[in-house]
Amino acid sequence: MARDPGRVLIFDTTLRDGEQSPGASLNLEEKLAIAQQLSRLGVDIIEAGFPFASPGDFNAVQRIAESVGSAEGPIICGLARAAAGDIKACADAVAPAARRRIHTFIATSDIHLEHKLRKSRAEVLAITAEMVDYARSLVDDVEFSCEDAGRSDPEFLYEVIEAAIRAGATTINIPDTVGYATPAEFGALIAGINAQVPSIEQAVISVHGHNDLGLAVANFLEAVKHGARQLECTINGIGERAGNASLEELVMALHVRRRYFNPFLGRPADSSEPLTGVRTEEITKTSRLVSNLTGMAVQPNKAIVGANAFAHESGIHQDGVLKHRLTYEIIDARTVGLTDNRISLGKLSGRSAFRARLEELGYELSRDDLDDAFTRFKELADRKREITDRDLEAIVSEQVQQNDQVQYTLRSVQVSCGTGVQPTATVTLINADGAELTEAAIGTGPVDAVCQALNRLAQVPNELVEFSVKSVTEGIDAMGEVTIRLRHQGALYSGHAADTDVVVAAAQAFVNALNRLLAGSQTLALHPQRAPLPVLGDLPLAERPRV
Ligand code: KIV
Ligand code: ZN
Repeated sequence: MARDPGRVLIFDTTLRDGEQSPGASLNLEEKLAIAQQLSRLGVDIIEAGFPFASPGDFNAVQRIAESVGSAEGPIICGLARAAAGDIKACADAVAPAARRRIHTFIATSDIHLEHKLRKSRAEVLAITAEMVDYARSLVDDVEFSCEDAGRSDPEFLYEVIEAAIRAGATTINIPDTVGYATPAEFGALIAGINAQVPSIEQAVISVHGHNDLGLAVANFLEAVKHGARQLECTINGIGERAGNASLEELVMALHVRRRYFNPFLGRPADSSEPLTGVRTEEITKTSRLVSNLTGMAVQPNKAIVGANAFAHESGIHQDGVLKHRLTYEIIDARTVGLTDNRISLGKLSGRSAFRARLEELGYELSRDDLDDAFTRFKELADRKREITDRDLEAIVSEQVQQNDQVQYTLRSVQVSCGTGVQPTATVTLINADGAELTEAAIGTGPVDAVCQALNRLAQVPNELVEFSVKSVTEGIDAMGEVTIRLRHQGALYSGHAADTDVVVAAAQAFVNALNRLLAGSQTLALHPQRAPLPVLGDLPLAERPRV
């Protein structure tokens, strides 16, 4: 890839950094659904995961490379620490993709060198050159990141970047790992790299940043003005701690303000050529898919994708917009694919219409899953007059979620509650051997009683840290969507479900979270930034890098 691709490349890391959000872990089906939608959205690169973390992570990256990594599709990238075992696993996982990338990284700030890596600057320089060279022996497209670049000594940073480019890195990524920089500082950092690194002309400059001070998007836009041509971002801004720079905000800022940004890319101000390759009308759909599958709600006032982003509440604003839309609107909602919450299907709709609408919404289900989802749709259509796209999304995201190694299936739930009675629940689960297990419990309310009964059956210690209910659509017959997060041994596991009966939705969401907990706690995945860097000896001799 040329040093300046002539536009801004969008590198989506929802499936890697986004999945590092507490409780947002996704199963294989969910990752595939998101990767397919990211491809429809038109991102340039999908960072599909950290293959060395666990066999499950490796498999997910490999499956995404197979199913989404066509010659016309996005580049499929995997993350690897600057260690031979990580890099080899990453190369193997992305191998099925026509266009594949290894993204390797090592920290460069003194604070990380001293306390995390316990390595000298000279050692970090040597590892960088050696590991980038090794990665280049496996693939042509290698990205190198200087973790915590935002707090690194710029002079040392220049040296490391130069070593990485000389060893063959084709993209140099500058992460503000702790979200500490301000826009002017971050812009100056990129300008300094452009001016001081002798070989910088041979690599694309990329930026990655966290939103701890709410400045990630502003920092990136400043970086673009100083030569950054790849932006690493996530859908809905999910990610470690306060999250990453949000894809939809970056893309729409570059779209709406292209007259302002065009000259920084050497274009005439009035050029109408898009600055990114993203199909903006896919943004809303992608945002909802990610929110539904991760169980991470989007705040209503979130720019571009929040429920209120295009709502005008004050009378003065409504009046202005009616007279002329541009009085209070800078974006036409249709540009991001926001249509009315339209009535999608009805009681008499058939299976093929159901499947076609789901595909338009970004869900491609296997035959069995489609059958199950269609049955649920028919049941819902009996209870609810009008089925909207949001209802379909709620049904299907639950379906996709249940594909994990399911230990328990909810068979039935009954509650007795109201004034003057002690809330009581009786639940029946079917376990993996097909046996029926029934328990009853009392609680402070019907949902508490259901959770107590389920816990008695599953017998796995956990703490309920989040329970939220929201209405999927308007109206008295609306489905209630329940999200539950359970903590077990320090890790969070989420489950969500929707039903016109919120107690049933709560029971199902709890069972989904329990299933994830039981599956996840058996396969402990490594965290790319917290696990200690292994030494060269982690790899069989035959697979060791050339030194
Ligand atoms: O935040 C960070 O520094 C990262 C790197 C691994 C790119 O996520
Ligand atoms: Zn990050």
